[in-house]
Amino acid sequence: MDKIRIRGGKALIGSIPVGGAKNAALPLMAASLLTEETLALANIPHLADITTLANLLGTLGVDIALDGHAAGGHQGRVLALTARKIASTTAPYDLVRKMRASVLVLGPLLAREGQAKVSLPGGCAIGARPVDLHIKGLEALGAKIELREGYVDAMAPHGLTGAKIVFPFVSVGATENLMMAACLAKGTTVLSNAAREPEVGDLARCLIAMGASIEGVDTDTLTIHGRDRLSGTTHAIVPDRIEMGTYAMAAAATGGDVELLGGRVELIAAAAEALRAAGATLEDTPRGLRVRRTNAPLVGVDVMTEPFPGFPTDLQAQMMALAATAEGASMITETIFENRFMHVPELRRMGANINLHGGSAMVRGVRKLTGAQVMATDLRASVSLVIAGLAAEGETLVNRVYHLDRGYERLEEKLAACGAEIERVKEAA
Ligand code: EPZ
Repeated sequence: MDKIRIRGGKALIGSIPVGGAKNAALPLMAASLLTEETLALANIPHLADITTLANLLGTLGVDIALDGHAAGGHQGRVLALTARKIASTTAPYDLVRKMRASVLVLGPLLAREGQAKVSLPGGCAIGARPVDLHIKGLEALGAKIELREGYVDAMAPHGLTGAKIVFPFVSVGATENLMMAACLAKGTTVLSNAAREPEVGDLARCLIAMGASIEGVDTDTLTIHGRDRLSGTTHAIVPDRIEMGTYAMAAAATGGDVELLGGRVELIAAAAEALRAAGATLEDTPRGLRVRRTNAPLVGVDVMTEPFPGFPTDLQAQMMALAATAEGASMITETIFENRFMHVPELRRMGANINLHGGSAMVRGVRKLTGAQVMATDLRASVSLVIAGLAAEGETLVNRVYHLDRGYERLEEKLAACGAEIERVKEAA
């Protein structure tokens, strides 16, 4: 398994292109199942998760053409997906277990074919991550669902029927799954307490371009009037706000000055507020978003993760790496996932002073972290160790970097281009 070696202590200076959002690309790829015409997605990042979902869609019968060349002024690739005929309605365990976002094929497949058998995704490092809201919502739309041998077996032989669904708490995936299913249901569906993440809005806008009728986009109440069929379209996906926030925190943590090409402060507003409170400067430029740290030391800030527009849970680990060497204390509270502090023991090995109390971490800044061998556990915890390594004295070796490859395209290249001493160490297979 590859490792990443970092020699810390260099300020990041330069520019980093921001790719298309992984968490927009995945539901959008699943949306291709809703039509027999071609859905062309531009600005697609080159990430392991995208490949995993493409493989799954391929087994379902979706033709996928990849145009590696950027198009329409975007740096990402163009993925053309055509579900002319569904060859199978089963998403097998060995593919779904690799990436829980595969559950996003459940709604579209059921809406298109009247049946779907999708492996339960199983938990992952950050929590149990059940899909009960997805299942209850589809049942409300008239599906008969059985959980058998680790699979969700869903039937709707006479199609789905619109319904009013109130989510007990915000779920990005459940909102996306049910919005897609409702597009082909008979009648109107209202999703209340829906997720408002920009990736949900991006999916809604693409579905509307495919002929869907959706009101309340970007709000917590989505009203979907079902259609008999949807058509294809071409859609460029939104920039990845989590990649943006990650590199912004790396720039601040290393005392750097980085322009995030294609970025905008508004896409990471809550994180920008925390970064400014910590002593970083963020401003929009004609090409994107410039993040720099004034020469004063960073100061600790309190952060609580919340659904959008609150501070994103996907930036919590990265903020903790920054807080580890800020002056003073930071109380970092995780409210979305039950086990999203896997980076804490690893940061402690680098000298961080962190105490956990249930869902909160009290981080007391230390003058310097020291490089160490550390273990990546999940996507965002891994990149928090990279940020810590960039700011630390000495050498850090991050193991199991396949976690990183799921969500960060060309990470070491982008950081090295800003002066970081970072390289990938290929391990013999
Ligand atoms: C999406 O996951 C993202 N993944 C996650 O990003 C992100 O952390 C999360 O939303 C929250 O913003 C993709 O978009 C592919 P949820 P999702 O349903 O949809 C619980 C990354 O690093 N829940 O909003 O799975 C769940 O366990 C990934 O890119 C239920 O209990 O998240 C969690 O505690 C990590 N039952 C909370 O709700 C359900 O049926 C929020 O989950 C569904 C969710």
